[in-house]
Amino acid sequence: MEAILLVGGRGTRLRPLTISTPKPLLPTAGVPFLAHQLARASAVGITRIVFATSYRAEMFEAAFGNEAYGVELCYVVERRPLGTGGAIRNAAQALNSDPGDPVLILNGDILSGHSIPDQVELHRKADAAVTLHLTEVDDPSRFGCVPTDGTGRVTAFLEKTNHPVTNRINAGSYVFRRDVIDTIPQGEVVSVERETFPGLIAAGKTIMGFVDPGYWLDVGTPAAFVRGSCDLVLGELTSPALPGEPGPFLALEDAHVSPRAVVTGGTIVGAGAVVEAGSTVSGSVIFDEAVVAKGAWIRNSVLGRGAKVASGAMLDGAILGDGAIVGPGNELGDGLRLWPGIELPPTAVRMSSDV
Ligand code: GTP
Repeated sequence: MEAILLVGGRGTRLRPLTISTPKPLLPTAGVPFLAHQLARASAVGITRIVFATSYRAEMFEAAFGNEAYGVELCYVVERRPLGTGGAIRNAAQALNSDPGDPVLILNGDILSGHSIPDQVELHRKADAAVTLHLTEVDDPSRFGCVPTDGTGRVTAFLEKTNHPVTNRINAGSYVFRRDVIDTIPQGEVVSVERETFPGLIAAGKTIMGFVDPGYWLDVGTPAAFVRGSCDLVLGELTSPALPGEPGPFLALEDAHVSPRAVVTGGTIVGAGAVVEAGSTVSGSVIFDEAVVAKGAWIRNSVLGRGAKVASGAMLDGAILGDGAIVGPGNELGDGLRLWPGIELPPTAVRMSSDV
């Protein structure tokens, strides 16, 4: 079976991390995010994947080449981003599948433990045009919701509302019959969520909802990205691509973690990164070559490649771009983002107490 991976988005919510690296290639639990999806796709029998690329397109082929985890890979580039539907239609030109064959479509920013074989099985049994993975969330008002009838058939695609009729949302994994992809207009900007799916429902086509209660996370925001990486390291979601055994933290080769540092909560420490004695790091993502100096305190944060956090600095829910430097005594709270290469000097308070 073939698949299309949607990886052309700009990932603006994850800036500044996505300035240099597209979201699907950000290091996540020690490997590019997509490695987890590719390994999983391979494990469920996907043999060929077409990448629908746009933003920083060349980086995908450089990262994965023609084959990964035994799956054949090829790349289709959009000259301008065509939206999710336009991207699927554009990538379909590289598919080998026959018109009646099922094709799996995956958003390139979803971590999911749902059963893809069961989703495909429902699709075949129902002879559906499209079968969507639906996941149940606590607060559906933040998402568009997707109601189904008693047979599991999708009845509507509803926009975000404060009074959602169901807590089931579109989970970003679709099985399309190949010839249904061919009905999406070619070369135009199209959204599957706003145009393709509502259009198919209005035309009376069978769209099925596959509900699976397994692990699911959209890593599109900084907090979710950190959560996803930590969950993989902790083993909350099993990934064949995890470069080590699940545990409280994982350090890649050539990382140096002092035995006198406290590192927990699924933290990943990248290659060549250093975590010095007396520091505390919990639930965080430390990219390659980053440095946590002695006595620093870090929680739920991301340190970009080569970023440095000096002695006595504190980070809580902060994002440091590549090469950013946080001088001694600084405290960076929730949501604070430091752009690549920016250096925060020691704080006045700390400087005066240091003197
Ligand atoms: P934000 O800018 O932070 O919203 O992120 P995003 O650009 O990734 O958008 P979003 O999370 O809505 O995209 C969902 C998935 O579709 C991601 O895997 C994107 O890479 C992908 N995607 C979104 N728009 C396009 C597009 O125009 N072309 C292609 N090929 N993929 C897209």
